Amino acid sequence: MSISRRSLLLATGALGGSALLSACGGSDPSGATAGAPTGELEVFSWWTEGAERNGLLALLDDFKGHQPKLDFVNRAVAGGAGAKAKEELAARLAAGHPPDSFQGHAGAELAGYIAAGRLEGLNPLYEKEKWADHFPAALLPLIRTEGTYYSVPVNIHRANMLWSNPAVLTAAKADPAPTSIEAFLESLQKVKRSGRIPLVLGEAWTRKHLLETVLLAGLGAERWSTLWRKGGSWSSPQVTAALQDFRDLLQLSNLADADPLSWDDATKLLGAGKAGYQVMGDWAEGTLKGSLGLHPDSGYNWAAVPGTSGMFQFLSDSFTLPAKAKHRQAALAWLTECGSLDGQLAFNGAKGSIPARTDFPADTRALFGQYQQWSLDQWQKCEIVGSLTHGVVAPIEWNAEIDAALADFTTRRDLPKFQDALAAAGAKHAT
Ligand code: GAL
Repeated sequence: MSISRRSLLLATGALGGSALLSACGGSDPSGATAGAPTGELEVFSWWTEGAERNGLLALLDDFKGHQPKLDFVNRAVAGGAGAKAKEELAARLAAGHPPDSFQGHAGAELAGYIAAGRLEGLNPLYEKEKWADHFPAALLPLIRTEGTYYSVPVNIHRANMLWSNPAVLTAAKADPAPTSIEAFLESLQKVKRSGRIPLVLGEAWTRKHLLETVLLAGLGAERWSTLWRKGGSWSSPQVTAALQDFRDLLQLSNLADADPLSWDDATKLLGAGKAGYQVMGDWAEGTLKGSLGLHPDSGYNWAAVPGTSGMFQFLSDSFTLPAKAKHRQAALAWLTECGSLDGQLAFNGAKGSIPARTDFPADTRALFGQYQQWSLDQWQKCEIVGSLTHGVVAPIEWNAEIDAALADFTTRRDLPKFQDALAAAGAKHAT
């Protein structure tokens, strides 16, 4: 594929222009489809909102160009961060009725599926595509268990991001890039006095997302990472202080009205000038730019979550091959697409993330938007740590216990009880 097509994919993806993408898909200049799989391919994900849907459609469009004979069944279950999808998936896997490929996260999230024998190893595909040479060294151990690769990463997202509305902040005289939680709280107070929502939250998982970034700010990269290993110090005074910060931040949020809002609804409130700040992964950029047509500086701004600059709390969406997938050949073709350079450029241009592959041509870099170019630099420069909410540091069962403790805390605000519950979950699950 020529660089001009890459450029078109990136540009239209960034505008959320899946219609235009469809218009230019469907060709196979390499003739690689001879003997290609035919029939159905069911792909399971949770990409239904704004930029995540646009990303999936951009990837799909490129895929159709390479595999025109496949009939793609888009089984996307609404609910950010897979809140609902993961339950449905677990039921299907338990019933022996897996989709042909499903979305997960690189890291601990897939451990349970692997241990239960639900996934097929992908080493032959990795060898054929030489992916071990093209994915970052830091990512490889997270998609490999005892020497076997079990998923194909499509991107790198950053969780510890603060998004803000410049007009709201200017009117309130608030800072777009506070460097500490203390300074952030002062700016939030100013936005509150101006009559806007200071910190906009959505459904339950968006609060865990906030919590993990505040813990990172309070603990730093090293201590954050040790929390997820045996002996991790959940009862430390640093954790207590971070939980106090979290409690103070909740006071300056729309928590009471947040339940019905998806992450994307919350991002749109920010874009529309109804809120000052949102702590959200950089899929929010895809919505601000792609869905709302806003521009950096005039329409929105970004910074690392206060206290976390120099740290990149990452996550990586990755696709799998379930054992007993009905359309195995089609699934392998899909996974090949997910790991391909063209697929990753098309997908990430629309989604707000950066490619997991490191070998894209230097001149392609300039085609990404301002945020993504900054993010590509940050990924090189920052200290890399994993995300909790998005599957890197803890398995699903541990996440579920943290969810329960957090739900209790957001209603009762009993901080010692919350910290004890977090410590108990840590002692139970850390290995
Ligand atoms: C994450 C996922 C992202 C984005 C987000 C919101 O878990 O990795 O790609 O979709 O959820 O739904």
